[in-house]
Amino acid sequence: MCGIVGYIGFREAWPIVIKGLHRLEYRGYDSAGVAVIDNGLKIYKKAGKVSDLEESVEGKDLSGKIGMGHTRWATHGEPSDRNSHPHTSGDERLAIIHNGIIENYSTLKETLVSRGHTFRSDTDTEVLIHLIEDIQNQTGLDLREAVRIALNEVIGAYAIVIMDKNDPDELIAARKGSPMVLGVGKNEYFIASDASPIIEYTKEVIYLKDNEIAYIRRDDLLIKTIDNKVRIPYVQELELKLEMLEKGGFDHFMLKEIYEQPRSIKDCMRGRIYPTKGLVQLGGIKEYADKLKNVDRIIIVACGTSWHAGLVGEYLIEECARIPVEVEYASEFRYRNPIISEKDIVIAVSQSGETADTMAAIELAKEKGATIFGICNVVGASIPRLSHAGVYTHAGPEIGVASTKAFTAQVTVLTLMALYMAQQRGTISNSKLVHLLTELDNIPSLVEQCLKSNDTIRVMSEQFKDARNFLFLGRGSGFPVALEGALKLKEISYIHAEGYPAAEMKHGPIALIDEEMPVVFIATKNSSYEKVISNIQEVKARKGKVIAIVTEGDTTVKNMADYTIEIPDADEIFLPLLATIPLQLLSYHIAVLRGCNVDQPRNLAKSVTVE
Ligand code: AGP
Repeated sequence: MCGIVGYIGFREAWPIVIKGLHRLEYRGYDSAGVAVIDNGLKIYKKAGKVSDLEESVEGKDLSGKIGMGHTRWATHGEPSDRNSHPHTSGDERLAIIHNGIIENYSTLKETLVSRGHTFRSDTDTEVLIHLIEDIQNQTGLDLREAVRIALNEVIGAYAIVIMDKNDPDELIAARKGSPMVLGVGKNEYFIASDASPIIEYTKEVIYLKDNEIAYIRRDDLLIKTIDNKVRIPYVQELELKLEMLEKGGFDHFMLKEIYEQPRSIKDCMRGRIYPTKGLVQLGGIKEYADKLKNVDRIIIVACGTSWHAGLVGEYLIEECARIPVEVEYASEFRYRNPIISEKDIVIAVSQSGETADTMAAIELAKEKGATIFGICNVVGASIPRLSHAGVYTHAGPEIGVASTKAFTAQVTVLTLMALYMAQQRGTISNSKLVHLLTELDNIPSLVEQCLKSNDTIRVMSEQFKDARNFLFLGRGSGFPVALEGALKLKEISYIHAEGYPAAEMKHGPIALIDEEMPVVFIATKNSSYEKVISNIQEVKARKGKVIAIVTEGDTTVKNMADYTIEIPDADEIFLPLLATIPLQLLSYHIAVLRGCNVDQPRNLAKSVTVE
């Protein structure tokens, strides 16, 4: 997620804005920029860290008592100086910073180009400031009205701040779907993505609501909706401490990111599904639509949690598109001299986009002529650059080393890909696609429901914090979920845990079962439900402790298991997205109870850029 900061008042803006950007660095970013107005509009911006930006302006004129700053997490347009914010209108009179995604930017851009606008960047943000400029040129309206009209044309999410070099006494701020808070001082106002840049100056804040616009002058604040209704500002007292703010009030980034999943899954689907039409649109791979029609093998390469997402992808793609899929550990694939041809499509899954083994696997497959699709969370990272095409997960920066929201975003993209391929190959009827996409559109709220088990799971975790081993068992797409649950637990609590196909128990692992062995079952209502029940009975017969993830209302398993965690019912292909949530919470709470460093577990790095 990008970070925004704005200031208007009696103090010099630059020091406040740049310090505010440092406060927002925890959000993750790839470039930074600041604009101030005094004797004209001065913009300083570059790819890299906030400290790089500070070094680059040594000796420059930074004066101005009105300013704004931005840390960019790239979504449209790779990390670069020219794609950094702020962006300006064609006449360089207006400047904008933006956090969010404008879904209809390409349509708006085409219209503006036809009207003679030229663009300096690849971003969706620059289109918005040109649209505002164009409305003023066409109508002669003032900036306030032009902004309001423009926002009525925008589809997507935004938190924006706009300045006009000809009016150094006003900031215009607006939000829809991205956070924004105003800080209220004496003859000064602050704007930011969250309160961390504001809290040292004032505890009086106004949380702008969706579809609201704030017109901010040193001694006056007017809030209106985009349909021109005046809103009375509601000023409240900030209670949170600064440190808590960076984690959004959560104790750890991992928990914050677990709770971000309804939003990150929604952002991942934004602009890509049209349920009423039964349509999936994946612009990043559409030029390969024909190849997808005829491909007869897909290979997925990844590591760790991303490999687990790949296993879910295997079930989804084979089930929906009837294309044979092989899932490979990238580290094995790269040294095995695999048989690859130009007929193959290789999908590389990676949160960071920098994992050395996955990059090497891509290079090997590319040399052998395969087509490479990347699924990545970092725009402009090495893996997207190495790939022929791909789909970004748009989960926002994942700070916790243990991957959570990136995993469900990867599974979401693989679900979209599976349905897209089915659409291209006609293996699923349009009516079925309408049904599935309608249900997929509702998944974020079902994930919200899964998160409601947090307190139950925290209490349950007390029973297991001293366990020395865990087994996670599942069938079908519940098997990769079991693997992911085991990895989460072992990597943050240091308890040995294994994921296994539930049916494989009788081929050896059942010898491990005794009253000391907690066994987690993915026992949701799906095609293998009855078989999982008999596996639960096998474990119970040997005194194993059973924790079962069940479909809400299931009393059968409830009467057998020692503990049950309910998740909402959904079509079988969406269950991995839901069943994973309680396992993330279980591993988190056990690790916290064990006093482990949840966000930076021992021996682990967020991105394994070496072999
Ligand atoms: C998962 O929680 C771990 N952080 C790790 O297994 C990770 O998934 C793996 O290193 C792959 O990283 P990537 O997705 O950035 O390629």
